Amino acid sequence: MARVVAPESDQFDPLPILSARFRAAIAAAYPDAGEDIDPAISASRRAELGDFQCNAAMALSKRVGVAPREIASNLIKHVRADDLLLPLDASAIAGPGFINLRLRPDALAGLLTSLDTPALGVAVPDNPSTIVVDLVGVNLAKQMHVGHLRSMIIGDAVARTFERLGATVIRQNHVGDWGLPIAMVTHRVMRGAVRGDLKLDDLTLDDLDALYREAQAECSADHRGLAAVRRFGLGPKAEAELQAQVSGAEQALADAKRTLTRLQGQDPEVVRVWQRIADITMGECLEVCRKLGVAVDRSASAGESSYAGELAGVVEDLLERGVATVDDGAVVVRVEGFGQPCLIRKGDGGFLYATTDLAAIRRRVQKLGADRVVYCVDARQSLHFELAFAATRVAGYATKPGADGPSRLQHAAFGMVLGEDHRPFKTRSGENVKLSALIDEALRRAAAIVAAKNPQMSEVEREPIARSVAIAAIKYADLSSDRVKDYVFSFDRMLAFEGNTGPYLLYAVVRIRSIFRKAADRGVDRTDGALTLEHPAERQLALTLLRYPGVLQSAGDSLEPHRLCAFLFELATAFSAFFDACPVLGAASGDLRDSRLRLCHMTDRVLTDGLTVLGISALDRM
Ligand code: ARG
Repeated sequence: MARVVAPESDQFDPLPILSARFRAAIAAAYPDAGEDIDPAISASRRAELGDFQCNAAMALSKRVGVAPREIASNLIKHVRADDLLLPLDASAIAGPGFINLRLRPDALAGLLTSLDTPALGVAVPDNPSTIVVDLVGVNLAKQMHVGHLRSMIIGDAVARTFERLGATVIRQNHVGDWGLPIAMVTHRVMRGAVRGDLKLDDLTLDDLDALYREAQAECSADHRGLAAVRRFGLGPKAEAELQAQVSGAEQALADAKRTLTRLQGQDPEVVRVWQRIADITMGECLEVCRKLGVAVDRSASAGESSYAGELAGVVEDLLERGVATVDDGAVVVRVEGFGQPCLIRKGDGGFLYATTDLAAIRRRVQKLGADRVVYCVDARQSLHFELAFAATRVAGYATKPGADGPSRLQHAAFGMVLGEDHRPFKTRSGENVKLSALIDEALRRAAAIVAAKNPQMSEVEREPIARSVAIAAIKYADLSSDRVKDYVFSFDRMLAFEGNTGPYLLYAVVRIRSIFRKAADRGVDRTDGALTLEHPAERQLALTLLRYPGVLQSAGDSLEPHRLCAFLFELATAFSAFFDACPVLGAASGDLRDSRLRLCHMTDRVLTDGLTVLGISALDRM
């Protein structure tokens, strides 16, 4: 069997290998054409003509002033690819100067055999990098919303991708658990407990969510209303009412500020209530993560509160080193290229969301040793992150001790979740959709579908299957759409067994496993037969499998899980075409059957591995 050797030995996909070979051929044949000539290798659009084509001759012709067909025949002479390609002659040249390339069947089989290792061709890096993934990011005393669902699903998939590529990954759940709004609700809960209106032990996240809103309303003084009443002379009664509202709000705000000071000073009475609020919120958050199979637990929590003690030091440090300046009583970091500065301390001495993120970047890079920090957060926070990243680079916080330059800071921004009416996803009454209710609804629907498809299965057997189908559907619908775009949440679409859906991919794996159950019954379930790839559908499946390591790498580089989804869908489609065209257990010979079983087995492994990277577990039956 032909072995395709170095310098591209870590590559399995013939496309980049052929690109390198043709690049070298161009350089040898036309040394004056310039370095940047694109060898323009692409998968062939017409399988009967070849597996790949080289379209370089046309652009090259403009550079060197030679007819493209002549260039094509010259490139054929120069390219060194006998180990990979069937012999190239004039018949390979088509149209204005395309070169059709057909892989040698033994080369294709050789590449695929070399991919058939436990790692499926994914190389382990010599120096694994450390990557911090910022994900989940829920807020205390508030119901999680669908934005958090995206942060969980995308963040987990991005983290799993890095892990699969051999990086050391540290997940950080930057919980919004500090600051004046938290103090407001803490104060409100304390007051309610003292008055006997509520019992700390019985509080739920729904109660807290309501108390949070009440506290917000209570603390916001209607200065405008009061001014209007005065301006329009609406009478003493109206004025007195608004005056009372304003003083009440001022009082509530003063109470909240005092509570914040007590919280910062670790006053046990306040800390106890704050802790209870944190426990209720995190309990529900981690329960949703568990239900979804998102690998985030308590140990990932590094909330805003964990930076509280560092904020004054950050501001002092930046002022001392002249990175920050005082502007009208506030402290700001000005960064070139931004219309607005990064505000890090307000005139009243309070710190901001950004201050915490500067401290977080410093800890993540300088303490946790991150070479790269990836924020899986809503696109609406883009400016915030750009400013914070730029400010920390100026401050030197983004550089590891002893490193030459700053670590990579990236915002993996995502769009909104829309309802089927293409408006922000809300309940009918306009409320945020509760995540646990959303997951339960998916479970209920998946259970009905699985029951309809498998009337013979017992309830006990069906339950875990329905669970996997539901989770796969939710996650895959999110991950397969372009991350930065908004996407429409539709139970019907995501749960369909046909099309680019999670259930369809699960089903592809199930089909393969059922072939192996039959093979085992007949005692022929080998997975190490020699590969013979002759049928176009076999070749297509093999060519698709070979792209896996490259796709994984590109999903990690680009922070785009949808690239992996698109690949897995292509793979499942290629498998389906193969399975329709090529009998496996009924193959014409035992050797062919063994080759096809091995192809099936590799497809199962790549699909299962890719799904795992997305946070989806494959099933044996469904
Ligand atoms: N709690 C924030 C929110 O709900 C998300 C936190 C994102 N992470 C960060 N490091 N700022 O919007």
